[in-house]
Amino acid sequence: MLSLKGGVGKTSVVLGLAGAALERGISTLVVDVDPQANATAALDPEAAPYSLSDVLHDGRPGVAGDAVVASCWGEDVHLVPSERALEHRAAESYPGSEQRLRTSLTGVATGYELVLLDCPPNLGELTRNALYASTSALVVTEPSFFAVQGAAQAVEAVAVAQNSGRPELRLVGILATRVRKRFAEHEFRMGELREAFGASVLPPIPDRTAIQQAQGTCMPVQRWRSTSARQASAVFDTLLDLVLSTSTAPGTKEEL
Ligand SMILES: Nc1ncnc2c1ncn2[C@@H]1O[C@H](COP(=O)(O)OP(=O)(O)OP(=O)(O)O)[C@@H](O)[C@H]1O
Ligand SMILES: [Mg+2]
Repeated sequence: MLSLKGGVGKTSVVLGLAGAALERGISTLVVDVDPQANATAALDPEAAPYSLSDVLHDGRPGVAGDAVVASCWGEDVHLVPSERALEHRAAESYPGSEQRLRTSLTGVATGYELVLLDCPPNLGELTRNALYASTSALVVTEPSFFAVQGAAQAVEAVAVAQNSGRPELRLVGILATRVRKRFAEHEFRMGELREAFGASVLPPIPDRTAIQQAQGTCMPVQRWRSTSARQASAVFDTLLDLVLSTSTAPGTKEEL
């Protein structure tokens, strides 16, 4: 998941997809590429001896494996945790620095059927690293006045990666989140997105309280019992189908 703007729902989509994968018994690794460490907080591992900051500092092929821990969701969802210090790694940019995450995941990602990368809210060095490590990219946006502009810049970042060494990187599409049905403003913004990006605009993620309620309870929304949770789960299940169909090669990674 990537976006230029913050708070658009990237981490929630990562968690929604990880939860959908858990329901299906699909082995999943979540890599928290955001120094805010929101995905790490939600997946709350018992201990996290190493973080992605240590991994990128070390940089050896496969070293991300040392940082992998089980999540509080169980053994089927693993995590490479993040921490605030990752911000300093983001500042380190040098020729080839965008390859660090990819190199560190060598031989690690292949152990999972799905790898989800949760990006920070910018298109800087960490997001660039995530794009170079991924087979697919999902641009996340909110249905606001800034949506088209923000999504266009994220799509451009994907294109830059495709044109500089990652031609196999695929754009899954543009995903609007927290969309309210029959809310004229959201319908209007969805129209703007479709006008700008056509068929690349995916069916949106609706605004559902259960998504917020489940976060912080160490439980995927799929295990939460309410109508709101069931509706959210159904949407994430459909999205997972789409994501899996765009990254069919073994050991491929999905960026969120
Ligand atoms: N579909 C949704 N329905 C209801 N609430 C949502 C939904 N998606 C996200 N939220 C809530 O909106 C807030 C921001 O979501 P989230 O943290 O997933 O965004 P983000 O893009 O990862 O933010 P950041 O850019 O800071 O990493 C959270 O409180 C989350 O629970
Ligand atoms: Mg986030």
